[in-house]
Amino acid sequence: VCPCIFVSLSSAELLDTRAVRPFSFSFNTSDYRILLMDQDQGRLYLGSREYLVALDMHNVNKEPLIIHWPTSDKRRGECRMTGKGGQGECANFVRMIEPWNRTHLYACGTGAYQPICTFINRGWKAEDYVFRLVPGFTESGKGKCSYDPSQENIAALIDGNLYAGVHVDFMGTDAALFRTMGGRTTVRTEQYDSKWLNEPVFIQIQQIPDSSERNDDKLYFFFREKSLDTGGGASPSVLARVGRVCLNDEGGQKSLVNRWTTFLKARLVCSVIGDDGVETLFDELRDVFIQPTQDERNPVVYALFTTAGSVFKGSAVCVYSMADIRNVFNGPFSHKHGHNYQWTAYTGKIPYPRPGTCPGGTFTPGIRTSKDFSDEAVNFMRAHPLMYHPVYPIHRRPLVVRTGVEYRFTALVVDQVDAVDGRYEVLFLGTDRGTVQKVIVLPKDPSTMEELTLEEVEVFRQQLYVSSEAGLTQVSLHRCGVYGRACSDCCLARDPYCAWDGESCSAFTLATKRRSRRQDVKHGDPLRQCRGFNAKETVQFGVEASSTFLECQPRSPQATVKWLYQREGRRKAVRRKMHLFLLSEKRPVLFKYQIHTTFIGYT
Ligand SMILES: *[C@@H]1O[C@H](CO)[C@@H](O)[C@H](O)[C@H]1NC(C)=O
Ligand SMILES: *[C@@H]1O[C@H](CO)[C@@H](O)[C@H](O)[C@H]1NC(C)=O
Repeated sequence: VCPCIFVSLSSAELLDTRAVRPFSFSFNTSDYRILLMDQDQGRLYLGSREYLVALDMHNVNKEPLIIHWPTSDKRRGECRMTGKGGQGECANFVRMIEPWNRTHLYACGTGAYQPICTFINRGWKAEDYVFRLVPGFTESGKGKCSYDPSQENIAALIDGNLYAGVHVDFMGTDAALFRTMGGRTTVRTEQYDSKWLNEPVFIQIQQIPDSSERNDDKLYFFFREKSLDTGGGASPSVLARVGRVCLNDEGGQKSLVNRWTTFLKARLVCSVIGDDGVETLFDELRDVFIQPTQDERNPVVYALFTTAGSVFKGSAVCVYSMADIRNVFNGPFSHKHGHNYQWTAYTGKIPYPRPGTCPGGTFTPGIRTSKDFSDEAVNFMRAHPLMYHPVYPIHRRPLVVRTGVEYRFTALVVDQVDAVDGRYEVLFLGTDRGTVQKVIVLPKDPSTMEELTLEEVEVFRQQLYVSSEAGLTQVSLHRCGVYGRACSDCCLARDPYCAWDGESCSAFTLATKRRSRRQDVKHGDPLRQCRGFNAKETVQFGVEASSTFLECQPRSPQATVKWLYQREGRRKAVRRKMHLFLLSEKRPVLFKYQIHTTFIGYT
């Protein structure tokens, strides 16, 4: 479906190549999550059941710094009394680490169904080798961290205020976008109002400025939720959403007191039309990766979806522009009309300021705070949090689609790589079988690629970190050795991280460009690239439960013949949770999302 190439990494393969370093820790824990990359100190922070770990990214073999942050016996006992904890949930699962100031981090855990938060001293610099809890200090994590370790939460600490998408109660039924701490008013989404949030699963949160006016700054968050229209039959049961609020929203004065007055949401659409004209919808949002660009107002949003339901397995990656997202928020509001409850575009008068506009911003310089919004504007927002138009992906179609396969994608990171013939987007996609696919998207229009200036010439130290319930693994992005020693194999791999150097397939950087280096990401044509090196490509397809004769006549005695095959392997339903984390020296990026994977081998 897409002009792309992928490489699957199985857990067995991950373990036996030298490029890979599995970490093992001596203490008894589980449920690892990569929670934060500390750029200042070159550290990677992991959270797990009752432990926090700081790894040195420049020297991962160095002994990690470890904090034990257990639940008290008293709390554990109380938790067990409530009937929770059948599966060991009466423990402190660390779910959030955010940078607080130069020397301290702020961390929260589930605290055996009583969320708690604390400060962690990380020292001034990595050489201080400091990583410890601030003694005697803990505070409530309500509205910051979920009670139930299986419920995802997202958080962003901005100017001392913590914005969190979280379940606020013990029963896990009251989900909210919550602001706590810092100098601003405590504000949340309307409680138990399914028009605002309907059993949401929070995926990603990020501040994205809308203009050069700081008062216009908004927080965008991505989630999926249950559809309100379940009766129709045709409408999907789950919908993907992008939502936003103004950072300077202080809530309303008479109504929506301590509630967002700027909350809006819109649907994200990701679908393909098959040859038969049937549209396949991908609605189950799984992960979001926000790729920064030189314009901080316009990062690129990569979203990973799967089909809802269990019958048909399909996954897709769609890409959205902030311009398209903003256009939808500037468009008509959704309105339930008449007795048949049809959603229509609201065509009546829209109050001033237009709901979703920030106080004191470009269009509302005279309005000091959201408490000065007119009752009419506040009441309109309360009843109309949903935009009428959905956001469509760039080119109106997915970048990557997988259907008719036995696996689903579950996690995503994106890297940009500069190769001989241009810049490539490389997608790393975690699957529910515990493998990682590296997908290279070939440019459709080279001229649009050239607009991007080189930000990153040195890609040498890039690493992919993969965490799962079972542990953490570090994978070099330059796994060129796996393509073999032959020029043709290296060329056919079409991996922009690799080039044939005359002897073997090795890491490619623009900095070490040499004429003898052979790489052809765009066409993968070994006959052109490896002239004189006897390249030959043969593709044959096998059908299960039948036999295929594989024939290839090497043209020279020096040639090696290598058959690669991909086959559905054993299926073993071990449920795992996996996260991916991509680290680049220049542009660190973090994403966190829980997914279920099974670990099995491939090929
Ligand atoms: C590790 O911790 C789990 C959960 O607390 C416990 O059930 C298990 O017995 C522990 N294992 C060891 C080897 O201590
Ligand atoms: C950082 O915050 C902690 C906790 O509030 C405080 O104790 C510490 O002094 C602060 N450090 C700096 C450098 O401001």
